[in-house]
Amino acid sequence: MNREEALDSIKANVEDGNLVKHMLAAEAIMRALAKRLGEDAEEWGLTGLLHDIDVELTEGDMHSHSKLGADLARELGASEAMAHAILSHNVRHGISRETKLDKALFCTDPLTGLIIASALVRPDKKLAGLEVNSVKKKYKEKSFAAGANRERIALCSEIGLELDEFIELGLEAMKGIAADLGL
Ligand SMILES: [Fe+2]
Repeated sequence: MNREEALDSIKANVEDGNLVKHMLAAEAIMRALAKRLGEDAEEWGLTGLLHDIDVELTEGDMHSHSKLGADLARELGASEAMAHAILSHNVRHGISRETKLDKALFCTDPLTGLIIASALVRPDKKLAGLEVNSVKKKYKEKSFAAGANRERIALCSEIGLELDEFIELGLEAMKGIAADLGL
């Protein structure tokens, strides 16, 4: 599978532009993480890109969410490692996160939401001027973007990153695709 095929499949299965942006953000962070950790940036990036491809198809049914996603990814040619990461990012399945790829996707998923929300409360609603310290402050405000699960973000420790380091890497990665994110 190449990136274009993954994007075509996303276009066919996802209407919500914000959901597409969430997946693009996850891709950018996963690529940056892979580079930092000496892993396969293409494999990690495509895992981030595809991880929520089934959200609209499963219509909020958390028992099928990510099972279908893993199947769709496999059909596109994803490796078993990628499919496992997608499957295990939904805690409802009770599948343990074993590999670094599994763990990276799990902590990356909520970080995208925290960063997007941090940009949207700025007067200009842009990522460019958003500083890492602001995002760190927002991380500590539990009521801010409460859906961005802080405990999950903090699990970056499982892949050897300090929280501050992870937030900084995520912010830089998302700034790199700010235009695609419309931020
Ligand atoms: Fe997600």
